[in-house]
Amino acid sequence: MIECVNCMLKKESNSTNLLYLIHAVTEQLLMPKNDIAHLLLNKLDIDISSLKASYLESVLNKRITETNTKDIESYIKMVEVDQGERRTLHYSLYNDYSHFFRNPLMFEFSARQLLPKLIQQKAENNGLLRMWTAGCASGEESYTVAIILKELFHQMNMEIPTTLIATDIEDRSLEKARQGVYSENAVGNVKHKYLEKYFHKRNNQYHICECIKEMVILEKYDIADKYSYAPPSSIFGSFDIIGCRNVLIYFNEKSRQAAINKFYRALKPDGLLVLGESEFLPDNLTNKFERLNSILSIYRKKNIYEDA
Ligand SMILES: C[S@@+](CC[C@H](N)C(=O)[O-])C[C@H]1O[C@@H](n2cnc3c(N)ncnc32)[C@H](O)[C@@H]1O
Repeated sequence: MIECVNCMLKKESNSTNLLYLIHAVTEQLLMPKNDIAHLLLNKLDIDISSLKASYLESVLNKRITETNTKDIESYIKMVEVDQGERRTLHYSLYNDYSHFFRNPLMFEFSARQLLPKLIQQKAENNGLLRMWTAGCASGEESYTVAIILKELFHQMNMEIPTTLIATDIEDRSLEKARQGVYSENAVGNVKHKYLEKYFHKRNNQYHICECIKEMVILEKYDIADKYSYAPPSSIFGSFDIIGCRNVLIYFNEKSRQAAINKFYRALKPDGLLVLGESEFLPDNLTNKFERLNSILSIYRKKNIYEDA
């Protein structure tokens, strides 16, 4: 296989064949010296090994077209010397589309059932509520959770200590999250009363207020990192809830399984994993998680003995 890949790389330079190679390499997880994944990693420090081949193909095709380069090889040569394009490529590989209260049903369920119960339990046991948003984009999802918690503390007339960690692989997205400035579209699902309470409107932009920003710890972290179990600021994981929504759809099968195993380890017993609207855990993980709700993608961590 490796010889075949190398031979094709020498003979063919059109993007279709090279993209076929990406497919071969990423899906079969072979990492021969001359493959494109290796090239991107070593020359450009861009690790694409966790991404789905079809997604990579579409991103690279788009960059090739937009930069008017002939093929993938010329594109890579160009990226090697063009730092701006390198940043654009990295940013393009990580689609950061998001908005506040994305999937309103999920947030309604969290605000009415899931979180009030958890807050009550924590208050009774003097516990700390620990949550992690993995793949937080520009902060929309984690700030949505912070708004819900703030509202619940007020309604329930109690406030419990919380640690909300929000991580992403992309510096640009994290920088936007730190700034906390959003377009009209991004806040389209936010109720008017929350817009008034938690945002300041300036020049048609919505600035999230400090009282929400300060509830969230933003950190760079690669979910596909094989050498750690949880974001460093969490120290040991032990989360009550991990939200990883609309992120794993870009991962290949092996990396998706590895990420889910990582989440399993990082959750407390009975902890919850929340996925995106159209994301579901594969059947081979039913020994680790059980689905909590027939409509929403919320899974409870099973304890090993439950399966015995
Ligand atoms: C489509 S956005 C989803 C944002 C938000 N969770 C939501 O549902 O609205 C996907 C985010 O996942 C991030 N991401 C992709 N791969 C990642 C990885 N390996 N580690 C951490 N973040 C990653 C991207 O940078 C992007 O910001």
